[in-house]
Amino acid sequence: MDIFLREIEAADLPTITAWRADRDVVDALVGNFRHVNGDMDRRWYDAYLASRANNVRLAICLRESGQCVGVVYLLNIHWINRSGEFGIQIGDRAARGRGIGESATRLMLQHAFGDLNMHRVYLSVLADNARAIRLYERIGFRHEGVQRDAVFKCGRYIDLLTMATLATDQAARH
Ligand SMILES: CC(C)(COP(=O)(O)OP(=O)(O)OC[C@H]1O[C@@H](n2cnc3c(N)ncnc32)[C@H](O)[C@@H]1OP(=O)(O)O)[C@@H](O)C(=O)NCCC(=O)NCCS
Repeated sequence: MDIFLREIEAADLPTITAWRADRDVVDALVGNFRHVNGDMDRRWYDAYLASRANNVRLAICLRESGQCVGVVYLLNIHWINRSGEFGIQIGDRAARGRGIGESATRLMLQHAFGDLNMHRVYLSVLADNARAIRLYERIGFRHEGVQRDAVFKCGRYIDLLTMATLATDQAARH
């Protein structure tokens, strides 16, 4: 499916708030589950606008309808090390498993390396999130380590894997 990325906007907030309550999505993410209301998300959005010099939060939209089906992030950008932390979620269930995650990840890496002059894009992923790990491996992220029992979710501790890709890795692949 053809997609494009654009910066998140205030009108996306109700959709994003609804995804935060969807256990299917949240259980796969590194962050812990919290109930989040619309007021909190408006503050979260304001905090993003105030920190957007070092953070990029983009909506993943279907080309055909413009519908926002997910979000993809590059956070904590460090302009000396030229590194940033990648994150993604396809919040819309119907949009998963159609190649959208892969396309959005590739578009974000193009933005990070081609526009923002990043050198290194890194991420954390739960060790039991096989689909996300396969996606990252396919795109060229390399495994860098395991933080044992780092995250408590769904009543148990889960290992956290760290992965990264460099501009030079991606240039060598294309
Ligand atoms: C993980 C996640 C980002 C992957 O995105 P996605 O769009 O579902 O993934 P893709 O469709 O690109 O790839 C998933 C599978 O669909 C297959 N696929 C790719 N293009 C396809 C297409 N056009 N039609 C059907 N299947 C396709 C891929 O081969 C892949 O197969 P595999 O998982 O067996 O290797 C998404 O499922 C998600 O947001 N999950 C919940 C939150 C999450 O886990 N975020 C990551 C936290 S680190």
